[in-house]
Parts: sequence; C-alpha cells; structure tokens
Amino acid sequence: MQLTQEELEIFNGEKGPVMQKLMQTIVRFGDCFGAKKLVNLDGPMHLVNTTAMAGLDSIYDILDQLIEAGFKTKQPFTTDPWPMDMVNIKTTDEERAEFLRIYEPQERYLKQLLALGLINEEAFSCACYLPQIGNIPKEGQRLAWAESSAVVYVNSVLGARTNRNSAYIELFCNILGKAPEFGLLKDENRKAPWLVDIQTSKKPNGQVLGSVIGRKVVEDVPYIIGLDRFLTDISDFDTQDYLKDLGAAAASNGAVGLFHVENVTPEALRYGRKLLLDDYQTFVVTDQVIEDTVVSYPVLWNNKDDTPVLCLIGCPHLSLNQVNYWYHQIEKELNNRNMKSLAVQTVLLTAKPVISEFKKNPDDFEKLSAFGVTLSNTCPIMYMNNPLCASRPVITNSNKARTYSTSRFFEDSELLDIIVSGKIKGGKNE
Ligand code: F3S
Repeated sequence: MQLTQEELEIFNGEKGPVMQKLMQTIVRFGDCFGAKKLVNLDGPMHLVNTTAMAGLDSIYDILDQLIEAGFKTKQPFTTDPWPMDMVNIKTTDEERAEFLRIYEPQERYLKQLLALGLINEEAFSCACYLPQIGNIPKEGQRLAWAESSAVVYVNSVLGARTNRNSAYIELFCNILGKAPEFGLLKDENRKAPWLVDIQTSKKPNGQVLGSVIGRKVVEDVPYIIGLDRFLTDISDFDTQDYLKDLGAAAASNGAVGLFHVENVTPEALRYGRKLLLDDYQTFVVTDQVIEDTVVSYPVLWNNKDDTPVLCLIGCPHLSLNQVNYWYHQIEKELNNRNMKSLAVQTVLLTAKPVISEFKKNPDDFEKLSAFGVTLSNTCPIMYMNNPLCASRPVITNSNKARTYSTSRFFEDSELLDIIVSGKIKGGKNE
C-alpha cells in the first residue's frame, strides 16, 4: 500500500506506539483486500459492537489503551442496541442472572464507549439513520461502518460508501479518520453482476425478498428491476422501511452490502442500467420463488408444536412509521375480534428517541400498553444470546432474527393472527 508521508510517520511510530498500532492494523487489514492507499473519511460513524461479553477482556484492555492515550473518534458516534432489557421483556430470576453473567463487562464497556466518542446513552440503535436519532450520512460520503443492516442501508438508500468492516476495525478507522480504499468505496465495485427481475403478482414481503436475493447473489451487488411497480420514491417512509428490511435480510441471509432498485435508489436514478456489468447474470423472482423460500425456513424450537410465548418485532429497529403501523394493526385486529389484549407477549423494538416520540401521544402509548405490547430498545439476537431465552418458543417477522437465533419466522399478517389468537394456524394447538 502506498502511504503518504504523514501516514508513513504514524506507521513508523512517530505519533506514539498506540497510534502506530492502529495504523499498522488498518494497513494490514487493507493489504488483505488489495487496497492501494488509504482515503480520508468524511462522513459520520456508527459502531457495531454494543455488547460486552465475559471472556473478551483483551478487547476492553485495548479500548483502555486507546482511552489512556487520549484517542476519540473524529466524530461522535452511535452504536447498536443495548443488549439487555429486563424491564420491558418479562424476565425470570434465572434469566436475569444469566444476562448479568453473560454481559458482565457491560457497565465498564459503556464508560469506555462514552470516553471514545459515543454521543450519549440514547444513541443505541442499529437504525441510527432514522430522523429521531439523526446519524444520517450524505450521498457520496466515505464511511467505515460494520453493522451489516446499516451498511447496506446507507450504501443503497442514502448513496454513502462503506465496506462491511469487522467490529473494531471500524472504530480504529474512525479514530484515524482514514480507511483502506477497496470494495464498495470504489466506483467499479458498486456495479452489479446480477439483474434481479421481480415478476411477482403483488408486492413481495421485503423481509422475504431480501432473503431470496441474499441467498442467490450472496455478497454481490444486485440491480433490482420490477420492484418500482410497488414502491413510491425514496422520500416516502413506507419505501424507506421496506428497503431497510429488505437490505437487512439480504445482508444476513447472504452478505449483500449494496443493492440498486431501478427508478428508486439514488445511484440507480442517476446511472440506470449502466450500473450493470457487461456480463451480468439474470435471476427472476416469481410468486413461487417467494413461497418456496418461506417454506424452506427450518423451525429451530425444541418442540415445533409449542405455543409461542414471546413475539419480537423490530430487527432492524422499527421506524416511528412502523411502530404506528403495528399499533394500528393490533388495535384493528383486537377490535375485529372483540378482544382487549394480545394472547402473546409482544415487544416492538426501536430506539429510545423513537419511543420518546411515540410517547408524545400518551393516549396511544396507554392503549398500546393495555394491548399487552411493550416498547424496548434492545436487540432480539442479543436477547437470545441468553440460552434460557433461546430455549423459549419466540416468533418474529425478521429474517435476520430468524437467521441468527432460534426464533421462528412468520410474515406480518400471520404473525398478527398468532399474537392475537395465541395459536399457529395448522399447528397442534389451533
Ligand atoms: Fe439490529 Fe440487532 Fe437486528 S443490531 S439489525 S436488532 S440483530
């Protein structure tokens, strides 16, 4: 890698041993991917790892070294959801004890994050680009992020540029203010080797379509046509939410870091089908492909005939628009069945600033609570890192949560029916 004189001085230790280690780590990381140089970062930062786990002390020791040497990120940052919520999700004494054991260094870690540049204790959300949180990169800005759902969103929907970095590599890059230039930071790698043609008869569930695309293209860039029939422009909240969920599913069921949607996403609007590589392949998505994909998801519960005890909605974290959507859907369904509250404990996962915004209408918040729904800023995967929680029959509408945990996936309308009735259609307990 070709370094500038200033970078070389840091590399050789002239700015101290800690800065030298950071620079050497980033250069070696870039070398692995064939980067020829470092580029300056000019956008905001988000940190993926919000979870401090027992046994990973060497990481927290490294962070202490950074803090003692006086380092902070160039810009204040947000980070992924807080890993525990024992208030808004019913937790037994045994589960509580296990959470405190698994996440034992959490308080030490919080102090470290604040010292390194975490904005504040409200800044815990993977959907940090929501307006209530406001960590929103601009089109064309270069970033070093690692949270896969946020990486794919800011690349695809906002037109910013980041690779899907490893945890802490992104922290080191943002302290240095530089990242190795490779992958999605370069124009040529933002082109698509796949044309994905959506030929479904109706708007496919975004969480399932993302899964279909991720499984097919894996880490490649897809250029999606035929989806604009079902979407409005990118300023529309429903479109943003749809693409947020599609991206997270594509990034977790595959490793997609960028997608283009014809006539919708910024680079597709600007360059159109010029984004397709000359030798692109075509993949057609039909109703049957969608249906077959849903059927293929395994049930990982200990007993697949169990009755669900918990429903987690919001992975990635819900937007305010989505919290309101679920509030109104639940209200309507309960009214239709002349019921007052849900049969299954249901948690809507979102950021604290979104919860505060929703609570500005206290009547809505009271009604939602009376339905048996809570709002939480935690993450379903971190919740289910606790083996006692993972052994419970949990349901979700998130394809990322399905992929990384034992939670069982249902599409929205089926999920709604289950949380109201407490029964799975076609199941033993129906
Ligand atoms: Fe966010 Fe956790 Fe899902 S970080 S994307 S809620 S796995």
